[in-house]
Amino acid sequence: MAVRLVARSELGEAGVTVVATAHGPLAVGVADGRPFAVSNRCRHLFASLGEGSVTDDGCLECPWHHARYDVETGRMVRGPQGAAFRVVRDMVRAYTNTAFPLKRYPVIERDGVLYLDD
Ligand code: FES
Repeated sequence: MAVRLVARSELGEAGVTVVATAHGPLAVGVADGRPFAVSNRCRHLFASLGEGSVTDDGCLECPWHHARYDVETGRMVRGPQGAAFRVVRDMVRAYTNTAFPLKRYPVIERDGVLYLDD
């Protein structure tokens, strides 16, 4: 059964939002023109990814330390930014991609509205 998530027109400039679902809160948006729904918690320090933004190159960027995710794979493609995380940046990315990539959920779009395709 398809469950309504959000309309494209409701996304705003960030291109992503948080939607409460039966799976818990998901980060739902559009990247590179394609709708997506993924786990909402950043794998670094658990920021709400739906409060982040979609970058020009189609990544989902965390609002806290600007790690970036490929929403097609759930993998972290850039670790947390800032001097405090320089030493652990690659390690965070490695453990995320090995053990905790973002979970992806199937999304369909009808008439500009995104639905979870459960
Ligand atoms: S909480 Fe997301 S990069 Fe730190």
